[in-house]
Amino acid sequence: MKVLGIESSCDECAAAVVEDGWRVLSNVVATQIPFHAAYNGVVPEIASRMHTQWISRVVREALAKAALTPADIDGVAVTAHPGLLGSLLVGLSFAKAFAWARKLPFIAVDHMLAHLYAPRLSLESDATAQKTDAEIPSLPGYPFLGLLVSGGHSIVCKVDDFDRITVLGTTIDDAVGEAFDKVSKHYGFGYPGGAVIDKLAKTGDSGAFRFPLPNLYKGEHRYDLSYSGLKTAVINQLEQFRLKPAAGDSEAADIAASFQKTAVEILLRSLFRAVEDTGLNTIVAGGGVAANSYLRSRLAEREDLRCVFPSRELCGDNGAMIAGLGYQYLVRGETSPLSVTASARVKAFKRRYP
Ligand code: KG4
Ligand code: ZN
Repeated sequence: MKVLGIESSCDECAAAVVEDGWRVLSNVVATQIPFHAAYNGVVPEIASRMHTQWISRVVREALAKAALTPADIDGVAVTAHPGLLGSLLVGLSFAKAFAWARKLPFIAVDHMLAHLYAPRLSLESDATAQKTDAEIPSLPGYPFLGLLVSGGHSIVCKVDDFDRITVLGTTIDDAVGEAFDKVSKHYGFGYPGGAVIDKLAKTGDSGAFRFPLPNLYKGEHRYDLSYSGLKTAVINQLEQFRLKPAAGDSEAADIAASFQKTAVEILLRSLFRAVEDTGLNTIVAGGGVAANSYLRSRLAEREDLRCVFPSRELCGDNGAMIAGLGYQYLVRGETSPLSVTASARVKAFKRRYP
């Protein structure tokens, strides 16, 4: 079964074709990053306008790269939430029209559940492509712990199935990716901040600055995260940083490394608490921040845990994860009505999901 997946929740205009829920036949991601860089953040109005201009071409390219025509597609999946409303509506409307015109089963899915699904996908360039068909869909078995880390979300959850997660902890203020982006913006390192800081930190001393960790480990906040204190502390260092222009690049690298270490420590404290409490030792990470090399190396140190990451190409937003997740609903016979609408948030998001 070949499913067309469409994703437009933020600043990536993406479409992909995935076969049988795991084999990626094409994966086209048109990023708007250069258009938002001047503003150091995603401008919702620009994002939705660009999706409108690009979506048709992106879908056409996804079909062409898979050497398919619309007649070869067996189902359509699209992101309906969470995300920027204007952006979501572009992909959702396009997907509905495609499904309606071709009389195809249609499913609207959740973006965060799709990030958790990403490691089950196999790109041709990926080592997992060497595995047999039977092995990949069974990887990894439920339940496991999920670590969803992106520009909009930071979630530690228990995952019982592709469509069933329980949020154990979430951020009480900024998302982790947002903290990377804001620190980078204030220091003028570049946009988006995550990849820039990741690279810069490699030459820095992570012990050069000591930044505060939040004190959230009791009661209902046991697994919660907070990034506003860290962000403020790092930005408060800026005046000192500017006073030492001679230190230049090495000081910048030290700031990046010290910030990144603390940002990752905040995630790991919550995650490891969840490992201890639940006894689950398989972790699946997803979202843009899952590409972070320091996070990956810290998790690799824990030989008692099995940490599963999507390939770097599938960490960020893409249509393949939407198509893969959509397939699971479609084979179960579930579809969405064409009246389904987009929503910026997920109801009761804080503790239950979706
Ligand atoms: O999942 P994603 O592409 O979009 C959202 O759903 O938000 O995540 C984007 C976020 C941005 O905040 C970006 O700075 C961050 O992921 N990011 C990283 C890295 N690559 C992207 N953060 C840390 N290290 C990275 N290597
Ligand atoms: Zn995302």
